[in-house]
Amino acid sequence: MMEKFGLREGINEVIGITTGEWINTAPLGIIVKDGIKVRLYSNHTRELLEKSGELFVNVIHDPVVFVISAFTDLDESWFERLNPPVIRNALSWMMFEAKIEGSFAHLRFQNGEVLRKDIGAVNRGFNAVIEATVHGTRYVMNRSPQLKERILYYGRIVERCGGKREKDAFDLLLDFTGIV
Ligand SMILES: Cc1cc2nc3c(=O)[nH]c(=O)nc-3n(C[C@H](O)[C@H](O)[C@H](O)COP(=O)(O)O)c2cc1C
Repeated sequence: MMEKFGLREGINEVIGITTGEWINTAPLGIIVKDGIKVRLYSNHTRELLEKSGELFVNVIHDPVVFVISAFTDLDESWFERLNPPVIRNALSWMMFEAKIEGSFAHLRFQNGEVLRKDIGAVNRGFNAVIEATVHGTRYVMNRSPQLKERILYYGRIVERCGGKREKDAFDLLLDFTGIV
């Protein structure tokens, strides 16, 4: 049922949007397997979800959107609609009712819409940006030299396989993490 909106079995990397005092954006891994849930670390997404009980999700293939929302929030100029929140070029949006239990939020689908379809082939540069961003969000917390090495390893794949958008995204990642 969620396949129509772009979510399939496994972990789906999407942009989670929570609203309240501000519009908060963060990459999240939506886990589809006998139900739908997301693991939530202690972050703004969790804080806002505890109050609103509503999680918006955008499926999108823009690497720059992943990097910016991992380290800060996308401002309103990134959105094509605010109610429901839709980031420019998102493929679909969904809204879930969220119930937090321990380290997970259990999600119940409420509403959603498919906005456009994308026939892009797999690009290793894009995948490498996502991997580097996962490690980047950890690196800013502990500055581990091993994580820095991994990020630079993915950077070489971005350089070899990515297009301009992937390279711009990786440059932003280096700025946000302070890696030179
Ligand atoms: C691809 C990707 C997937 C992520 N998945 C999750 C996740 O499932 N749960 C989570 O709490 N953080 C996840 N993160 C980390 C958050 O996006 C990151 O910590 C972010 O800064 C949290 O922002 P917030 O404080 O605005 O909520 C992920 C990061 C990336 C790059």
